[in-house]
Amino acid sequence: MLLDALTKGMRKTIIAGNWKMNKTPSEATSLIEEIKPLVADANCEVIICVPYVDLGIAIEATRDTNIKVGAQNCHWAESGAFTGEISTGMLKELGVEYVVIGHSERRQYFGETDETVNKRVKAALAAGLKPIVCVGELLWERECNITNEVIARQIKLDLWDVTPEEMANVVIAYEPVWAIGTGKTATAEQAEEVCEFIRACLKGLYGLEIAASVTIQYGGSMNDKNAAELLAKTNVDGGLIGGASLVAEKFAAIVDATKPAEY
Ligand code: PGA
Repeated sequence: MLLDALTKGMRKTIIAGNWKMNKTPSEATSLIEEIKPLVADANCEVIICVPYVDLGIAIEATRDTNIKVGAQNCHWAESGAFTGEISTGMLKELGVEYVVIGHSERRQYFGETDETVNKRVKAALAAGLKPIVCVGELLWERECNITNEVIARQIKLDLWDVTPEEMANVVIAYEPVWAIGTGKTATAEQAEEVCEFIRACLKGLYGLEIAASVTIQYGGSMNDKNAAELLAKTNVDGGLIGGASLVAEKFAAIVDATKPAEY
């Protein structure tokens, strides 16, 4: 839509690496040192979402750089008997700025539901963290032509009770589950179609102005080869990158792909 195109330049472009369960602390240190110089002149926001045990060193290693650090999950309670969980306060005190919430791997393997995603999102926002809220359809849902229903439901439930003011700190990541880690990227047109639909859902919930300002990332086998085409789309404001974020040159190439072409 014309309005989405006009407002694209006003939205923050965000490239975030989702390291998943990869890199020990010493490996993380090496990778961050490799990434730092390669993204130093980025003209977008650069985030690395690392395993919990790497957060402390990632924050130290990225101090005074343009790289922000994110976690990959958080619990909704402030503290208590939740063995194995990490609270928003713990992340905040370390200096974490972003947190991925509702990743499809958590929904698929760890019983995450839209209800728990919503609780985590609310808790993250209350603590001053910026949630990257992941939504996306399964392959058979796409094949049954219910992608929009699935996405609309996730957006409504995951953002339930999130205030218009809080939306300034929310990032949405559209990650079709069939494209994650499979090498099957959504085409740029498919990515744009759903990201545009997400913006329309946000418009229904929060109005035009807020909808136009929210960063919507695409994720799912984004790499150094296909990033430019995806990122050029009107409603694709960045990427959440798994596999390719573990290779410094590939991650940096994706960051570079956000730069406007030089003529
Ligand atoms: P992928 O993962 O880039 O390896 O497909 C994306 C993600 O899960 O965030």
